[in-house]
Amino acid sequence: MLNAKIQDAFNQQINAEMFSEYLYLSMAAHFESESLKGMANWMKIQAGEEHMHAMKFYGFILDRGGKVVLKQIDAPKTAWKSPLDAFQDVYQHEVKITGLVNGLANLAIEEKDHAAHQFLEWFVNEQVEEEAAAQLVVDQLKLVGDNGVAIYMIDQELGQRQPAAAAGAAAAAT
Ligand code: FEO
Repeated sequence: MLNAKIQDAFNQQINAEMFSEYLYLSMAAHFESESLKGMANWMKIQAGEEHMHAMKFYGFILDRGGKVVLKQIDAPKTAWKSPLDAFQDVYQHEVKITGLVNGLANLAIEEKDHAAHQFLEWFVNEQVEEEAAAQLVVDQLKLVGDNGVAIYMIDQELGQRQPAAAAGAAAAAT
């Protein structure tokens, strides 16, 4: 049985993850319109991962006999000044999500909910990767500045990103 405080906090996290999906989908659409197809690809895959994160919370709440309560999703921004501006937003957003995940882990400890705490460990580790992935692109974009050819090359590289399931299957096959 899930206690009410954890149920509410996890439902709130579903909302945060769904907003993340919306934000990255909005960035994908922005990049599509700028003909930066690789960056759009990276964002669409990121949006898919956020959906998966939301569904993990959804599944956990239901598995524990709780009630999923979906809330209104805020509208994300629709335009960014540059690729660097967008990826800096990604990084800042992921830092915020890390704070939320840490808050949930603290709550699980306070409420002595070991199953919730163990469930959240996956997210604690995932956030390390999420921040690092965004930081890497921010660093690369800072390095190249306004150099169009270099931005094009970064775009090509980000176009190689595959959904986690496909990337795992490809690694297993080699
Ligand atoms: Fe679901 Fe990007 O954190």
